Amino acid sequence: MKGIILHGGHGTRLRPLTHTGPKQLIPIANKPISQYVLEDLRNSGITDIAIILGDVLPEKVKSYYDDGSKFDVKITYITQEKPAGIAHAVGLAEDFVGENPFVVYLGDNMLKGGISKYVQEFQKENSDAIVLLCKVENPQQFGVAEFDKEGNIVRLIEKPKKPPSNYALTGIYFFKPPIFKMIKKLKPSWRGELEITEAIQNLLDEGYRVSHRIVEGWWKDTGTVEDIIEANILVLDELEPRIEGKVEDKFSVQGRVAIEKNAHVKKGALIRGPAIIGENSILEENVYVGPYTSIGNNVKVIKGEIENSIIMDNCTIEINTKIIDSIIGANSEVITNQKGPKGHRLLVGENSKIIF
Ligand code: DAU
Repeated sequence: MKGIILHGGHGTRLRPLTHTGPKQLIPIANKPISQYVLEDLRNSGITDIAIILGDVLPEKVKSYYDDGSKFDVKITYITQEKPAGIAHAVGLAEDFVGENPFVVYLGDNMLKGGISKYVQEFQKENSDAIVLLCKVENPQQFGVAEFDKEGNIVRLIEKPKKPPSNYALTGIYFFKPPIFKMIKKLKPSWRGELEITEAIQNLLDEGYRVSHRIVEGWWKDTGTVEDIIEANILVLDELEPRIEGKVEDKFSVQGRVAIEKNAHVKKGALIRGPAIIGENSILEENVYVGPYTSIGNNVKVIKGEIENSIIMDNCTIEINTKIIDSIIGANSEVITNQKGPKGHRLLVGENSKIIF
């Protein structure tokens, strides 16, 4: 079986973070979202993987994953010139797939239990597609399934105003080659995209077998800032505690905390887990890092408190206050103004959001 990871799209709801890279590279607990996807495929035995690149700095994706050997997979890159839809992106992989069954995994989706069970089932059963569904509170924001009395899917509707059920399509699909025939028939939807939901509907309409599974455990589509913060919570909740860096005073570390290689936690600092501190990062004395915080690599926290936040690589934090529920992009500085007239001095990129 082969795997396809979608790494395109514009990630408009995550600007400014997506001005400098694709959203799928945003780190959750210090690991890009799409790496969870790639590792899920690999752990399910799928090592021949195509990554569909978009037009937002695709070279960053290539330089991170390279040929895949670091991750024990083989990667083929395919370019999607513009985000013309999920089905369009899948259609580009027809030659890569050949006659094989395959999994399409949206590069911004995370599934707690992983897909290995469904991979095995798809190889055994006689369906032309399996979709994974998850019960959600807000089905209007997803593709939604409608069932008949026997519980079979009869219809799939993208972002319905009046959802026929609470079962959303997750971004994980198991297909066989007939899906390509269905994709070729598609016309752009109201949002100007070739919709995979409609391609699966075409399978149903033409009498192909589409089965479904309801996922166990959590599933997250990380399309918004709130989703990213929540995904960080969900992943940190299962963090394996480890101390590989230097902790001057063992009382500095409480609860489930990972301290990576060459990180340095000075005496007097306090980390209350779940939290992760990346390689080469330094927490000075009196710094407080609270639950559900991911501090990236090479970060200096000189002064201040941080809770329920993601601080990406190479940042400096030196503040008299507390940061909560925040995402700070790589190479940023957040510092308290020590000189000059009182007030907040800001140098903020386009589409940023600051809440004092
Ligand atoms: O996350 C699940 C949902 O994903 C499903 O319930 C919907 O049925 C499905 O249409 C999709 O909806 P979204 O509106 O969330 O899709 P989005 O535009 O966010 O794109 C999902 C991923 O696919 C994202 O990682 C970007 C990538 N993508 C998207 C498009 C439109 C591409 O690689 N190329 C594209 O052209």
